[in-house]
Amino acid sequence: MIAKISETLEPINLQGGWPTPRLHPTKEIEAASSALFRQKDVQQSLRYGPELGSSNFRGAIADWLTESYAPKAGSVVSERVAITNGASNGLACVLQKFSDPCYTQGVWMVEPTYFLACPIFRDAGLGGKIFGVPEGKDGIDLEYLGNRLREVDENTLLPMEPRKTVEGGYPKIYRHIVYIIPTFSNPSGGTMSVESRKGLIELARKHDALVVSDDVYDVLRWPTLEGETLEKVGTCTPRLVDIDRNLEGFSAWGNTLSNGSFSKIVAPGIRAGWVEAMPALISAMGTVGATVSGGCQAHFASLVVEKMLSSGALSSHIQKTLIPTYRTRWLSMTKAIRKHLYPLGVRIVGDEGETVGKIAGGFFLYLSFKGCSASGPTIAKTALEKYNVKIAPGGIFSVPDDPESKIRGEDTYLHGARLCWAWNEEVVLVDGIERIAKAILDASK
Ligand SMILES: Cc1ncc(COP(=O)(O)O)c(C=O)c1O
Repeated sequence: MIAKISETLEPINLQGGWPTPRLHPTKEIEAASSALFRQKDVQQSLRYGPELGSSNFRGAIADWLTESYAPKAGSVVSERVAITNGASNGLACVLQKFSDPCYTQGVWMVEPTYFLACPIFRDAGLGGKIFGVPEGKDGIDLEYLGNRLREVDENTLLPMEPRKTVEGGYPKIYRHIVYIIPTFSNPSGGTMSVESRKGLIELARKHDALVVSDDVYDVLRWPTLEGETLEKVGTCTPRLVDIDRNLEGFSAWGNTLSNGSFSKIVAPGIRAGWVEAMPALISAMGTVGATVSGGCQAHFASLVVEKMLSSGALSSHIQKTLIPTYRTRWLSMTKAIRKHLYPLGVRIVGDEGETVGKIAGGFFLYLSFKGCSASGPTIAKTALEKYNVKIAPGGIFSVPDDPESKIRGEDTYLHGARLCWAWNEEVVLVDGIERIAKAILDASK
């Protein structure tokens, strides 16, 4: 009987975190590629590129970041930027160069976490040292993190020599890595306050940690108030890297790294991105083995994006297509949630009821089912099996390497689910929410 109802319904996927293919800027990518091929020195684009990426592109990204964030510490300079082939590989390269399975004592991941980062840490030999840190109202729980860092440091028999030595080409190994998505987090949707960001940097400095922040959703932002102009949002929330270099006592290596990607603002298949950090750290990024063998790992793709950035096509795509589309979808989705799910006890995590003057953004929101009569996993299962709507159940966002993660999440994110508005059009999103409402009613029987 259950199968029959679900078979009559078109599947709706609210789990995947990808843009609708119609939002890929195909014409702009084509124009940028053609412009590249019309250049006399097109052969240069097809050769191996410089390790840190094209210097023009690094400069163009630095200018674009300066414009997007207006950092108090001053303009972003190209020496702070290296081209990567996306945030995932950016993280992998950072770990190859700046972490060491012997010396690095812990990877601290905000939980609920972007679970696909976990295997990247394991690949770097850091399995067994990957821990979750709960996310509170204001981002990562600093008190918890501080206590755990102290505990681990006190219980480690140091000095323990890194296997990766300075002489071997590893000029700086961090003792800890912290991984977070401080703005429009995946999955929670939360944004960390500036005060909390400062607190995190202070902790990182004290414990020799590198905070890697995936800043991949920052520029996709809009006012929550319907009718409010987009200009109202101003520049992006200061990144950890900008705060780090503006706080007295910063080191030559720094304690923060911003991991950026064109996957969310051009197209995922482009596989190009950048990292920003202190110039010393960026310079060492150019010595990652797989980069030295052949240069910048995303050379051709990055030159295409460079054309899009320098022609204004990228900014225009973000401002005129992505933001208005996502904003409209977000409005429809949140309205439908309030109408159909709030009466059943559901809440959007972080929703304070008053949306005037606030900013939303990114790809995701997180629902809490704590106020419902049925449990989160049962709701997700019923939604899929009976109503053919897929949501990302809270259980997938724990840190699997940390046995305590699931226990900590019992009272919070495990009773929820992540929903994405980037993949589906408005009408499908609303249909999906209506189906979830039915699933909750069924699951509560
Ligand atoms: C937080 C976060 N980091 C990284 C990625 C992947 O980025 P890239 O495609 O640049 O590897 C995603 C994609 O969903 C993400 O949400």
